[in-house]
Amino acid sequence: MHGFSYKNGELFCEDVSLQSLAEEHGTPLYVYSGGTITDHFTRLDKALSGVSHEVAYAVKANSNLSVLRLLASKGAGFDIVSGGELFRVIKAGGDPAHCTFAGVGKTREEIIYALEKGIYSFNVESEEELRYLNEVAGELGKIAPAAVRVNPNVDAKTHKYISTGKSENKFGVDFGRIADLYDSAAAEMPNVKMRGLQMHIGSQLTSIDPFIEAVEKVIPLVTALKAKHSIEFWSIGGGIGIVYQDSLASGSPDWWSAKSDSERPLTIEKYGEELVPRIKDLGLKILLEPGRYIVGNAGALITRCLYEKKGSAKTFRIVDAAMNDLIRPALYEGHHDIVPLKEPTDGELTKVDVVGPICESGDFFCQDRPLPDFRPGENIALMSAGAYGFTMASNYNSRPLPAEILVEGEDATVIRKRQTLEDLIAGEL
Ligand code: LLP
Repeated sequence: MHGFSYKNGELFCEDVSLQSLAEEHGTPLYVYSGGTITDHFTRLDKALSGVSHEVAYAVKANSNLSVLRLLASKGAGFDIVSGGELFRVIKAGGDPAHCTFAGVGKTREEIIYALEKGIYSFNVESEEELRYLNEVAGELGKIAPAAVRVNPNVDAKTHKYISTGKSENKFGVDFGRIADLYDSAAAEMPNVKMRGLQMHIGSQLTSIDPFIEAVEKVIPLVTALKAKHSIEFWSIGGGIGIVYQDSLASGSPDWWSAKSDSERPLTIEKYGEELVPRIKDLGLKILLEPGRYIVGNAGALITRCLYEKKGSAKTFRIVDAAMNDLIRPALYEGHHDIVPLKEPTDGELTKVDVVGPICESGDFFCQDRPLPDFRPGENIALMSAGAYGFTMASNYNSRPLPAEILVEGEDATVIRKRQTLEDLIAGEL
């Protein structure tokens, strides 16, 4: 589901009018539906109920403290990729003992910080990293819990920038080298304890097939590692894709269920139905690392139309958000539905480019897309911006970062203040 729908001609997030939020807090403005985040977490948890599991939310998708706090209160663990993310999780009341630490380039400082905080597992991406982890843990007189990320060489059939499970990607260790590496760890690395195995084949997967292929390929390996090295968990990663298109078309607050099977190639229920029977008897704790599925459709970026510019070839609607606020269209040609906050009544569409004020031709949110009319001074919503939206935002062009709001029913809370001009230069000499 998502919490965004028109009520009496106005777009709402749960029970709060987005226009009223835009008037009170200004634009650009990120707005999240707490109910959607909870619903998605709960549904995923339920879909996996047939197997011992833990949902380790991928913090990189949306790392606002209030979002982390909400998920921690529902029982989520966390998948982190930096010392900064661990710091956030701890500040939000999350338990380091339920954190896994991924990433190909952990620094000495990050390793020490995570060892001192007692995380659940370092998900290691190379032999060199495992040896370094052993060395640093030894210096501290600690045993580092670890898992190696296996690269199963499966094509996730997603955008090349977010596909990670092929041999040519920088991630993980080749499938064929894993068993030897666990043997070496047992023989030569006394300061690491191999606790599990990890994999992640890519992001925004909209078909179940690559997940099945990867799981089936890795089952014999993980079974052998359990028998020989007594590992206790298998993280099958994140990557569950979401619907980015036609988010309001059905008129239903739960448009996944309003769509036919062919239009929603991957549902969370199907994910559970297909994977649980394959993994439930392995005797391993299954970890999941979803980011986008939990928060993607729970967020929208509200922006105001500043100008309409009619060129000889195109019509541009220039808005006050830009690629620094939401970089997905520029970086991956990612699609985000664009809807006016005032419900369109006449059904008329005009082909336009919606663009930001930044000095780059890549600064667009859509190109040649037929959209309902909205005029300068009116607000629109860029939908499905809850994942990899704010977390990938930057200060490019010296633009202050937008504010973030969390809506829960009738309550709207500012969970991050808009940056001021002074914030922009804080720390500079
Ligand atoms: N686990 C690992 C090891 C990952 O690298 C990622 C995402 C996840 C879990 C979570 O994947 P998710 O469930 O969110 O698909 N910025 C891109 C997405 C990059 C994903 C990076 N890794 C985008 O905006 O589409």
